[in-house]
Amino acid sequence: MRRFIVSALGLCAASAWAQSSTVDSYVSTESPIAQAGVLANIGANGSKSSGALPGVVIASPSTTNPDYLYTWVRDSSLVFKELIDQYTAGGSSSLRTLIDEFVTAEANIQQVTNPSGTVSTGGLGEPKFMINETAFTGAWGRPQRDGPALRSTAIITYANWLIANGNTTYVTNTLWPIIKLDLDYVANNWNATTFDLWEEIDSSSFFTTAVQHRALRQGSALATAIGQTSVVSGYNTQAQNVLCFLQSYWNPSPGFMTANTGGGRSGIDANTVLTSIHTFDVNAGCDATTFQPCSDKALSNLKTYVDSFRTIYTVNSGIAANQAVATGRYPEDVYQGGNPWYLTTFAVAEQLYDALIVWKNQGSLTVTSTSLGFFQQFDTSLTIGTYASSTSTYSTLTTAIKSFADGFVAMGAKYTPSGGGLAEQYSRSDGTPVSAVDLTWSYASALTVFAARAGVTPASWGANGLTVSSSCLTNNGPTVSVEFNVDVTTVLGENIYLTGSVGALSNWDTSTAILMSSANYPVWSTTVNLPANTAIQYKYIQINNGAVTWESDPNNAFTTGASGAQTLNDTWR
Ligand SMILES: *[C@@H]1O[C@H](CO)[C@@H](O)[C@H](O)[C@H]1NC(C)=O
Ligand SMILES: *[C@@H]1O[C@H](CO)[C@@H](O)[C@H](O)[C@H]1NC(C)=O
Ligand SMILES: *[C@@H]1O[C@H](CO)[C@@H](O)[C@H](O)[C@H]1NC(C)=O
Ligand SMILES: *[C@@H]1O[C@H](CO)[C@@H](O)[C@H](O)[C@H]1NC(C)=O
Ligand SMILES: *[C@@H]1O[C@H](CO)[C@@H](O)[C@H](O)[C@H]1NC(C)=O
Repeated sequence: MRRFIVSALGLCAASAWAQSSTVDSYVSTESPIAQAGVLANIGANGSKSSGALPGVVIASPSTTNPDYLYTWVRDSSLVFKELIDQYTAGGSSSLRTLIDEFVTAEANIQQVTNPSGTVSTGGLGEPKFMINETAFTGAWGRPQRDGPALRSTAIITYANWLIANGNTTYVTNTLWPIIKLDLDYVANNWNATTFDLWEEIDSSSFFTTAVQHRALRQGSALATAIGQTSVVSGYNTQAQNVLCFLQSYWNPSPGFMTANTGGGRSGIDANTVLTSIHTFDVNAGCDATTFQPCSDKALSNLKTYVDSFRTIYTVNSGIAANQAVATGRYPEDVYQGGNPWYLTTFAVAEQLYDALIVWKNQGSLTVTSTSLGFFQQFDTSLTIGTYASSTSTYSTLTTAIKSFADGFVAMGAKYTPSGGGLAEQYSRSDGTPVSAVDLTWSYASALTVFAARAGVTPASWGANGLTVSSSCLTNNGPTVSVEFNVDVTTVLGENIYLTGSVGALSNWDTSTAILMSSANYPVWSTTVNLPANTAIQYKYIQINNGAVTWESDPNNAFTTGASGAQTLNDTWR
């Protein structure tokens, strides 16, 4: 047995090495192609974007089936966020010219009256414009409320760099008015329905909510830095409300973020993986409140998402259940044949590279009951706990995860045609490129995944230490104050938490269970407002260094009264 394990590991290491060298070589050939691919699609000088005004990003030069010769606020902002990250990390001054042109182009576009409204009546939610900065007036899925959030995030990233480099005047006089229009729109409209980033479903969308939250946090910090204090408390209040709402997309069983509240699909969608990479903050650790790439929720979600494509694409047939596969937008997709996309496959790798960066920084990796299924792909005998970087478990897992991540880049590489052009999709049956050629976002996604693989991290945006109360989403109906007391003897390092069947009791989610007070040890206590006249089930759990121990079955149960306060005195079972 032991000899078998040793030789299996040896084999694994050899194939991981081969994978890694394939990917190394793809990164070195594709990087300049992807960079040139992005620049070719930006006016006025881009070689494939003739007719686009300066700083305007075309989605793709394709004009028929599909016609993508338009500029989308979302795509443009994600693309320029990457160029701004490059510039602020020491990139060339020609990027600076382009960034300034982008800012001017977007400031113009903000003012264009369009089918969603004027600048002050909802027009900022318009998703796409003509490349000469006029309105697109055809039928479309509008509004799309992620655009203003992503645009402000891109421009704020630039603004923060300018402030750090002694150019606050330009930020205050030129950038702030543009940023503020978008942030006011986000603060006032985040709680209205929106078309999702795929422009198909009108409901609430996880990606949109998450990037709105990020924009408000960054906006509040920037406003504070430049003395625009009148907006700070409003942005903070709304950011906290948005963060609370963001928690409601988590679907504890089987552990994924439901991408859209409408649409009648499984809810499994690359929307959520893109959220994880576009709201990554290297200083936020593995925080699950903001769904950081290494958080247990985002890893569980990633597995659910990836696995949903294993059996539906012919190109994935014969690939082992713990190996990388081609992934698309969502399993039910039929658009242009419903194929894998380069940018979604790369996003999986990017989330994993981001996670590896954070584990390395913190010198450990934690496996919770929520992320156990993800990690057991790489070690079936793994148990929950925290593994320091000095342990062999940590090395085994991180080596395997690096190789798994490389596998997704290798998948994109395998189906990149000679010449390196990246279309929107690659065929589910044979991997040949499908749909729009030279998709700007595909190229940008290659640049961001390559950067993450090289350990490059974007600037922090203030996600560190954000919390929400587990009861923030309970509605405003009548509540009863319930005091829970449980008599339980613990050892040092163990804590007792409460979880149960309603939102205020974390909906059985152990990662947001309520920590009880040991002030009257051995009685542990907490008081929670619960909906009145409601049948509640609950359990106490013990958590020691990430390891969760549940009380034995059955669940504790009671029904809340109509009003007032109740006390429950329990003994651990
Ligand atoms: C585009 O070309 C014009 C004319 O050569 C030049 O002035 C301008 O700086 C170029 N724009 C960028 C972003 O390089
Ligand atoms: C903008 O481009 C559209 C589509 O090519 C064209 O119909 C329109 O006349 C242009 N408008 C201006 C002001 O150039
Ligand atoms: C500040 O940045 C803007 C935008 O690039 C630039 O036009 C301006 O010259 C800069 N001002 C100073 C003082 O560096
Ligand atoms: C608005 O916010 C409430 C409370 O967070 C939430 O229940 C509701 O679904 C939200 N609606 C939309 C469209 O965002
Ligand atoms: C619960 O225990 C507390 C003391 O820990 C006591 O004051 C209270 O009367 C008890 N309540 C019930 C309903 O047993």
